[in-house]
Amino acid sequence: MSGVLYGVGLGPGDPELMTLKAHRLISAAAVVAYPALVGGESFARSIAADCLPDGVREIVIEVPMVVEREPAQAAYDKGAAAIAKVLEADQDVVVLCEGDPLFYGSYMYLHARLAGRFDCVVVPGVNSINVSSAAAGLPLVARNEVLSVLAGPMNVAEMAARIAAADAVAIMKVGRHLAKIRDVLGDLGLMERAIYVERASLPEQRVVPLMNAPDDAPYFSMILVNKGADPWL
Ligand SMILES: C[S@@+](CC[C@H](N)C(=O)[O-])C[C@H]1O[C@@H](n2cnc3c(N)ncnc32)[C@H](O)[C@@H]1O
Repeated sequence: MSGVLYGVGLGPGDPELMTLKAHRLISAAAVVAYPALVGGESFARSIAADCLPDGVREIVIEVPMVVEREPAQAAYDKGAAAIAKVLEADQDVVVLCEGDPLFYGSYMYLHARLAGRFDCVVVPGVNSINVSSAAAGLPLVARNEVLSVLAGPMNVAEMAARIAAADAVAIMKVGRHLAKIRDVLGDLGLMERAIYVERASLPEQRVVPLMNAPDDAPYFSMILVNKGADPWL
């Protein structure tokens, strides 16, 4: 007998966007685990803070924010080993995941390390694209339109080609890539259709046309574009 690993989506910030299932599992947890910046806060923990039971054991996985993959991989190795010890002792572990666990979610790195040895249950969460389009009041895609999900760190040529080929795009991980993305969208004549969404669903949420976006975009921001190829009216 071993414990069960739960990868639980929390939604992108507002605790009220957590599912009932996520809330139930977290409220009853004896052990939770979550990623955090080295020496810093965990966004996932902050979303779940109000439903963490008194005395819950917390396994903090400190993940360095660097471009190279190895330091983060080593952190997940260490985190997975700590979680495995708890599971082997027949106790469940609830992993707190911002948004949806398997949509660019760090839970996938723990899942990959532990799913072959232990029972794993993934509880989906509201993802940041849906919550950003809701905040902007912007339909993402209509009828047969194609949505491309892109990442800010992509190089200019690939980003431009993928935007040109799509009907709509969601660009994640904007942060320090904002100026580059703005240039790409400007060159494609899409500036007027681009919406910038920052910290969607949180009290600090900001939704503005991309042309009015701040130069210092935070990591938790995204850009949505729909070309309007298939009018909704
Ligand atoms: C590592 S991904 C995690 C995605 C998450 N698992 C999900 O389901 O949305 C981080 C990126 O998600 C986006 N993101 C997450 N939360 C957000 C929020 N509240 N507002 C805007 N963008 C958000 C940002 O683009 C950020 O760079």
